[in-house]
Amino acid sequence: MIDAKTILNRCDALANQSSTRTGIERVYLSPEHAAVNLQAGHWMQEAGMTTWMDAAGNQRGRLEGATPGLPTLLLGSHLDTVPNAGRFDGILGVMLAIAVVDRLRESDATLPFAIDVLAFGDEEGTRFGTALLGSRAVAGTWDDQWWTLADKSGTTLREAFVEFGLDPAKVGDAAYRSDDVVGYLEAHIEQGPYLEEADLPLAVVSSIAGARRFALTMTGEAGHAGGVPFHRRHDALAGASEVVLAVEQLAREAGAIATVGRLQAFPGGVNVIPGRVEFSLDLRAETDDVRDAVWAQIQDVAAEICTRRGLAFADEQTHGAPAVVAAPHLRDVIRAGITATTGEPDPMVLFSKAGHDAMAVADLTDWAMLFIRNGRGGISHHPDETVTEADVAVALDAFEAAVRAYAATYAA
Ligand code: GLV
Ligand code: MN
Ligand code: MN
Repeated sequence: MIDAKTILNRCDALANQSSTRTGIERVYLSPEHAAVNLQAGHWMQEAGMTTWMDAAGNQRGRLEGATPGLPTLLLGSHLDTVPNAGRFDGILGVMLAIAVVDRLRESDATLPFAIDVLAFGDEEGTRFGTALLGSRAVAGTWDDQWWTLADKSGTTLREAFVEFGLDPAKVGDAAYRSDDVVGYLEAHIEQGPYLEEADLPLAVVSSIAGARRFALTMTGEAGHAGGVPFHRRHDALAGASEVVLAVEQLAREAGAIATVGRLQAFPGGVNVIPGRVEFSLDLRAETDDVRDAVWAQIQDVAAEICTRRGLAFADEQTHGAPAVVAAPHLRDVIRAGITATTGEPDPMVLFSKAGHDAMAVADLTDWAMLFIRNGRGGISHHPDETVTEADVAVALDAFEAAVRAYAATYAA
């Protein structure tokens, strides 16, 4: 029987699969991705599942229900990471899903649906800029325009598929038909401070913020750091810096969230005025309207900065995902799982500002999520990400109870 300690040991084991010697970085279609798929597949088999890697590189395991071929409940999360990641974001959800299946099989539960565990290969978008590639393939919303996306070494998504042993022409095979699925449940660390502040281990997710990401470029004129007087400069970095501060202010005022996480000045000499700056923008809000209104304001401010400084601003959207709302009947199932485990009659409800595979799966089927407290203020996308064994233990009980609650209502 898989317990919380085993789950934490498994998260530790997967953390060793990293492309960097310090910190964890594991991107889509990399050798480390292949290694964690193999390991997760092995644990899935131990839990009684038949396993395979799908046409988009997601690792899958299946436990049949009372009779073979029944419609399927999907349980999942992702095994890829951001740069310098923690060891639980996504990974814990996959390990919990495998453990739930192990418990159901050990107890000889007769289920009115099959269960597929999905270990998605790309949620973060670290390698190709566009996020949720694994879950979008599963949802049947793959966009052929993505094939030419390139990673930082120039390898295209199409080339990476072939190098990984996948056939780009077959990516459609990864998709389910919506008639064949009965919903999607995901367990994930909160990645925020609210459970810790409330001294609670678990919450029900109500909805997920809509996100857009952009590649931004500010272009000016490079020149001599000594020779060019201020009144003749077109300093791309000074202009981009003004945009960065406006992004923060406009998002704050609108109740949205925005982050410039990457910025590079060219040509990058200490005694050269920056002629070009490339930077990123990640923009989220509870509603798509609020998010898009902030983006329009940012564009206006950038235009004003360019006029004043003699610069040019260009933007390209690299990722977009609409805000999604959890299905009420599956929220009830998660709530029932928490109540059965903790005795809390009215579990905490949280809106997720972090993105999740559920956003993509929402195009395929109804979804709901279980949030698990992560400590130190909910720090995440950071090596200090942490969860306690006790919280993992209640999460496992609650996730199992949620699946059983769904089986009971589904069969009725
Ligand atoms: C994924 O973790 C995201 O919220 O960007
Ligand atoms: Mn993440
Ligand atoms: Mn995640």
